[in-house]
Amino acid sequence: MTGGAEAVRGGIRFDGVSVAYGGNVVLDRLDLTVEPGEVMALLGPSGSGKTTALRAVAGFVRPAAGRVFIGDRDVTALPPHKRGIGMVVQQYALFPHLRVQDNVAFGLKAQKADKAGIPGRVAEALELVGMGDYARRYPRELSGGQQQRVAIARALAIRPGVLLLDEPLSALDAQLRSGMLTELARLHRELPDVSILYVTHDQVEALTLADRIAVMDKARLQDCGTPQELYRRPRTEFTASFVGNANLLPVTVAEPAGTVDFAGHALAVPTGSVAGGATATLCVRPHLVGLGDGPNALTGTISEVQWRGSTHRLYVDVDGHRVKADVRELRDTPVLGDRVTLHFAAHDAVLLPQGAGASHG
Ligand SMILES: Nc1ncnc2c1ncn2[C@@H]1O[C@H](COP(=O)(O)OP(=O)(O)O)[C@@H](O)[C@H]1O
Ligand SMILES: [Mg+2]
Repeated sequence: MTGGAEAVRGGIRFDGVSVAYGGNVVLDRLDLTVEPGEVMALLGPSGSGKTTALRAVAGFVRPAAGRVFIGDRDVTALPPHKRGIGMVVQQYALFPHLRVQDNVAFGLKAQKADKAGIPGRVAEALELVGMGDYARRYPRELSGGQQQRVAIARALAIRPGVLLLDEPLSALDAQLRSGMLTELARLHRELPDVSILYVTHDQVEALTLADRIAVMDKARLQDCGTPQELYRRPRTEFTASFVGNANLLPVTVAEPAGTVDFAGHALAVPTGSVAGGATATLCVRPHLVGLGDGPNALTGTISEVQWRGSTHRLYVDVDGHRVKADVRELRDTPVLGDRVTLHFAAHDAVLLPQGAGASHG
């Protein structure tokens, strides 16, 4: 055996992982599997426990309960440098006094990799992120985006089986961020075996990059699925509101089930297993709400109109509830105070039972 960590190919598995600080549970029994070669986004608001989950994989925080696996190896008790993981954090964290090439070589040297092979591995990693020409620069001679590319090259130089990215784009401005998203997608195509856990609070990053998204809130996993699943069929109100935009209408399921009552209007929607008489939330995406008469018609008064380039966002007050509709190609744009009718198809609505998901109580 050499001193270096063997990069383990394979996914990541959280098995009931809990983390507490001073008795305060900040990660609560997380069960989650990242398949080999999969990009999993951990998406949630600030403080929801995303970084903590990542640090548990990296080995920087010790779980109070549960186990972490990389491939089929239980790494819960292994020190970070034995886990074969590449990690990139928000603030590039390059060593300012080291040239780019020495920053990238750092992990390899720490791993006591074969000295003769290091320059080749460094060049290869810099090529991967398009920074081959910058090897002799110092970090201060690079833009923010370039520094972050170098940080990614440094993480990749050890040829990790698992790459952990913690809000890697949040320090960049919007335009750079969008370019880097494209780069990261390309990088993953070039490294299809690397499993990636990508922490972000930005739904656009998660929707763009991830094969699946794990939605976190209040220390708990709330939902997990492909971007399309979470968008079309959210399981919880939290997911519906955090992934994409949503109308969340308070309704009561009629008896027998099959319709719901919303502010005195009977709406035909799939009620699934939600029992008659139960209160629930009806989720309808604004772009699936049409203007004019149709099924599930709701009439109300325009309270706000926002022009968004390709669409108009209409806010309509329906008996004291605000309903949003994103509509295209309006010949006569409604104005404030107009009476309009909105409608949506039954199959475009998702009924969310009260207290759905992993919420407390
Ligand atoms: N070292 C620490 N000591 C005490 N509390 C911490 C520590 N690290 C994180 N926390 C707390 O744990 C919670 C989750 O933090 P974190 O995992 O960083 O959330 P996120 O990355 O989703 O923003 C927060 O309430 C945070 O204040
Ligand atoms: Mg964080």
